[in-house]
Amino acid sequence: MGQFVRATAAEDIPEGTMKTFELKHTRFVIAHTAEGFFAVADECSHDGGPIGEGNVLGNEVRCPRHGARFDLKTGAVTAPPAVAPIDSYRVKVENGELFVWLD
Ligand code: FES
Repeated sequence: MGQFVRATAAEDIPEGTMKTFELKHTRFVIAHTAEGFFAVADECSHDGGPIGEGNVLGNEVRCPRHGARFDLKTGAVTAPPAVAPIDSYRVKVENGELFVWLD
């Protein structure tokens, strides 16, 4: 059964950046955009690239390996060469702390 798991303090991820975490056997990144905090898998669906080492571009993230882009809200592909989405996770902010919903 899933639950919200504390990841870090919100102030640890300035707007326009992201940070990688591994909790409950799940590796993911939390990105901070002008619209809030979003979490997606740290593994690119194209060839396993480390998403957390890429760039946050608006509400998208770019894989550092071959440049595929994903929507941070949904994990959907927004630019090739990836064709499959990556997992996305619910995030909530409570008392300045970030929590991510993990199974
Ligand atoms: S591994 Fe991410 S674009 Fe190729």
